[in-house]
Amino acid sequence: MNILLIGSGGREHALAWKIAASPLVERLYCTPGNAGIARECELVALDPGDHAAVIAFCHTHRVDLVVVGPEAPMAAGIVDDLAAAGIKAFGARRAAAQLETSKGFTKDLCRKYGIPTAGYERFAAAAPAKAYVRSKGAPIVVKADGLAAGKGVVVAQNVAEAEAAIDMMFGGGLGEAGAEVVIEEFLEGEEASFFALCDGETAIPLVSAQDHKRVSDGDKGPNTGGMGAYSPVAVMTAAMERRAMDEFVLPTVAAMKEMGMPFTGVLYLGLMITKSGPKLIEYNVRFGDPECQVLMLRLMSDIVPALLASAEGQLRHLDLRWFPDTALTVVMAAKGYPGRYGKGSVIEGLDAAAEVEGVEIFHAGTAEQGGHIVANGGRVLNVCAIGKNAEQAQTRAYAAVDRIRWPDGFCRRDIGWRAVEREQAQTP
Ligand code: AMP
Ligand code: GLY
Repeated sequence: MNILLIGSGGREHALAWKIAASPLVERLYCTPGNAGIARECELVALDPGDHAAVIAFCHTHRVDLVVVGPEAPMAAGIVDDLAAAGIKAFGARRAAAQLETSKGFTKDLCRKYGIPTAGYERFAAAAPAKAYVRSKGAPIVVKADGLAAGKGVVVAQNVAEAEAAIDMMFGGGLGEAGAEVVIEEFLEGEEASFFALCDGETAIPLVSAQDHKRVSDGDKGPNTGGMGAYSPVAVMTAAMERRAMDEFVLPTVAAMKEMGMPFTGVLYLGLMITKSGPKLIEYNVRFGDPECQVLMLRLMSDIVPALLASAEGQLRHLDLRWFPDTALTVVMAAKGYPGRYGKGSVIEGLDAAAEVEGVEIFHAGTAEQGGHIVANGGRVLNVCAIGKNAEQAQTRAYAAVDRIRWPDGFCRRDIGWRAVEREQAQTP
């Protein structure tokens, strides 16, 4: 079969790598892609926002399945438009993408269907929001309703900070995303992500991962899209994964179906594992980036039947197998990220780095120029490794990082620290 993949990040390189390994695939195309994805498949110059052009490409190239990586095309309705044109697509439809694009939508769904999450209220104006904050006290969390590129959440340590965030959001500091604000209870615990494949009717579990959102070692500095991840996560025990399915995924799939907006694709659960059990921080309607990279390294089964089953409503017949090993990824970013950064610097040593045992390198913001790989974005490379435990995966990943010569790049040096500390505490 022929597949078109949409996206250009490390997530899509990992997906392309895994899809390309499937014996079911004849041709794999990707748009817009990056320099790493170009080594797995054929890049095509399409504007994913031009649905008519994507549909025309699928018809002329006999594409059997479109796999959508990021949320933006889903929120723009690409899955709906492809389906209307008779083309199967993996991902969420526009209405279902609200689980990610509107925090208020998700909070209301949690309240209505008894899905555990932080207590909250929604506000459309600053004065009542501030009155609510004063009545609740700090710490408290202020969130813009819409997508705000990671800047829409302020964990306020005191009331003044919360009020400043409310003023910033209603003052237009985040554009349309801040036209409505959710204020919620501060949750204490360890964060973990869990993923499930859904087909509108049912869902099957994938595995857990833990992201490192802050830019600097020790979880300091501003939030980013994610500076590294690993899988599996100790707090996501088999019992906790069962709860994630029973208390979050399955009721959400049932609720979305009941509301006439069946959820298809990957449901990403951002959970806080608190003393009183798991609570939902957020849903995303896609694989995480960089979490997808570690999931793909651990996935033993062919991914293509799983993507197809999700798109065709056939997941109940599917069973996925995973390697028990730990996979870990270190993100290399351009100096300055998540703020301003330069483009075009040359990256060397990638082939030598990829020779380290267990290592796989996925590209994010890269391009090829005159035979060189150059930086072309904020997050640029994902140096991934698999190992028998977190310590081995971490050692291998950093051994590979150290073979890469890129003076304009940087990475965190402590990805996986929680898992490594746990392992060390357990060895006598
Ligand atoms: P979100 O964009 O909703 O994932 O939030 C970004 C980050 O803010 C999360 O990864 C958490 O670290 C933090 N956060 C969000 N909501 C809460 C909450 N209710 N309590 C504590 N931390 C939170
Ligand atoms: N790494 C966080 C995300 O993909 O949302």
